[in-house]
Amino acid sequence: MMDKVFMGIGLLAVKLLPLWQCNTLMLSLGLRCMLFSSFTTTHQTLSSSSLRLSLSLPSQRLSHCSRNLCCKQNGVFSSFPKDSPLTGLEDALVSYVFGKKRATDVAHMVWEHVVQKGDTVIDATCGNGFDTLAMLNLVADDSHDGHVYALDIQKDALDNTSLLLEKSLNSKERQLVKLFNICHSKMNGVVPRNALVRLVAFNLGYLPGGDKEIITRSETTLLALEAAKRILMPEGLISILVYVGHPGGREELEAVESFAAGLSVENWICCKVQMLNRPCAPIPIFFFRRR
Ligand SMILES: C[S@@+](CC[C@H](N)C(=O)[O-])C[C@H]1O[C@@H](n2cnc3c(N)ncnc32)[C@H](O)[C@@H]1O
Repeated sequence: MMDKVFMGIGLLAVKLLPLWQCNTLMLSLGLRCMLFSSFTTTHQTLSSSSLRLSLSLPSQRLSHCSRNLCCKQNGVFSSFPKDSPLTGLEDALVSYVFGKKRATDVAHMVWEHVVQKGDTVIDATCGNGFDTLAMLNLVADDSHDGHVYALDIQKDALDNTSLLLEKSLNSKERQLVKLFNICHSKMNGVVPRNALVRLVAFNLGYLPGGDKEIITRSETTLLALEAAKRILMPEGLISILVYVGHPGGREELEAVESFAAGLSVENWICCKVQMLNRPCAPIPIFFFRRR
């Protein structure tokens, strides 16, 4: 029974994410997702004996939800539409709730629902290249229009990324990735002037396996977010994975959050997914630019 309840909540949470107009979605289970937008809302509370889910949704969206979710009287969600466009993202978020997926998996799954073949995207902190490779797989197609611009301040990081790409891609795919040894605050200097950028992804902190003293810093991260905001296309996404376990990490989280708080509700939806009982767990944050 509890399995079904947990599963229903995970699925509901995921189903709601693309609606973006949700005001606050709070899971009191160790996973918390806060959306900063403030609409006139209709409140519904779904509860069972040991857990509680509070939703605040615009009323027109609520009717959309109730059409798509199979909801039992006691608030337990028993099934989910098979044709859901979010298949995969549901699995990732539910698995995250159960500790079976990492924050990076959640971020990659969210990207998958925004990025299209042929898009231009930016990896603002390419590090060892795993995010760059994931992005390339999303944008590359036979037309070879897709492009990934990958940035890092460390030469070691670019070498690692380059090595991974050589191992994983064919030569045509490899040509779709451009590597730049620069600070991400200068990202608008590397993408073509008229490029429509669908995704700018940040994976903050230090290079795994590298020098832990070289970390992203609030000051330049904020400049980079400002640059990302300027070049992002409508219905594009800024994705940020924040690590708070190292010195300066919490300050950087606060800087990112206050940046989000300054984005207009009319144009942006900002949310974070946070483990409540693992204070040092990485925190995926998403800023979605409305149409
Ligand atoms: C957590 S790692 C990135 C992991 C990477 N995305 C991956 O998939 O392996 C953070 C990276 O940010 C880089 N970095 C730090 N400050 C930066 C800046 N101002 N501009 C660009 N990259 C920066 C670091 O050198 C490090 O490689």
